[in-house]
Amino acid sequence: MMKIALTGASGLVGSRIVELLGNDFDFISLSQNDMDITDKESVVKKIMNTDFDIFLHLAGYTNVDGAEKEKEVALKINRDGTKNVFDAVRQRGKKFIYISTDFVFDGKNPPYFEDSSPNPISSYGISKYEGEKVLDEGAMIVRISYPYRKSFELKKDFVRTIRSLLEQHKPLTMVTDSLMTPTLIDDIAYALKYLFMNFSGGAYHINGADSLSPYDAGKLIAKMYGFDQSLITPTTYEKYFQGKAFRSQYSDMKSKKNNFYKMKSFKEGLQFILKD
Ligand SMILES: NC(=O)c1ccc[n+]([C@@H]2O[C@H](COP(=O)([O-])OP(=O)(O)OC[C@H]3O[C@@H](n4cnc5c(N)ncnc54)[C@H](OP(=O)(O)O)[C@@H]3O)[C@@H](O)[C@H]2O)c1
Repeated sequence: MMKIALTGASGLVGSRIVELLGNDFDFISLSQNDMDITDKESVVKKIMNTDFDIFLHLAGYTNVDGAEKEKEVALKINRDGTKNVFDAVRQRGKKFIYISTDFVFDGKNPPYFEDSSPNPISSYGISKYEGEKVLDEGAMIVRISYPYRKSFELKKDFVRTIRSLLEQHKPLTMVTDSLMTPTLIDDIAYALKYLFMNFSGGAYHINGADSLSPYDAGKLIAKMYGFDQSLITPTTYEKYFQGKAFRSQYSDMKSKKNNFYKMKSFKEGLQFILKD
């Protein structure tokens, strides 16, 4: 069985990958307790002593708002930590996959394909792009966006955040003139299964089949879960992000390379987790 060593296995995305693909691959989780990725010495030691075929690097500083206040911490984890891990994996001569984000794009000239030019506008996006830049062309970069899943105790994704606010009858103001590309984490896992078995260097966009405004996404969640849709009122990108324009406006993510796994639209993804 192919051995996949990974960081970030305790996280929102990583834990679901291990859950879904645990029978197909031998996953070896390197947690923050085993090695803090910012500690080069412990990274080298751990990776030199681990037997694996592919290294999947999911660990990261993932708090988008927090990164604006903690720029250096985000860079230390997402750039320097990634470099530590990548260099050690390269010393072993093994394959490397880096999970990146739509936040590497500025959201001004959509759509974004694998060969579009990154130009991040947020500290989080900058730190993740810096992480991409420490790699060589033999490494695989998998960019995902707005991942969501049915349940996960430790962290809410945007679908469960909106659901829980609607459940509490809280009014929500959501942006109409912006685009996001929500992605069902189960689809990310199954697309990765293909990529593990058909590894090649370069960028891949593994994203949901459609992009929609946060307002439309919110309305769809309300409708499908039977919440009061009138709790959601429209606003503009400019008003909503006044003074904190660090989320890309039109994050319309597309792939030229994913002809191997059919990703779900947002509606299909919600239907899937509702009946699961
Ligand atoms: N969630 C999103 O919306 C989103 C969107 C696009 C891309 N991504 C990317 O997808 C990847 C996974 O995201 P996620 O949401 O699943 O992450 P998450 O739930 O926030 O979990 C982060 C993971 O990174 C680990 N970690 C953090 N700092 C570390 C360090 N210094 N050394 C070792 N491990 C460390 C954490 O370990 P502990 O549990 O021990 O702290 C945890 O396993 C990230 O690279 C992220 O940039 C996420």
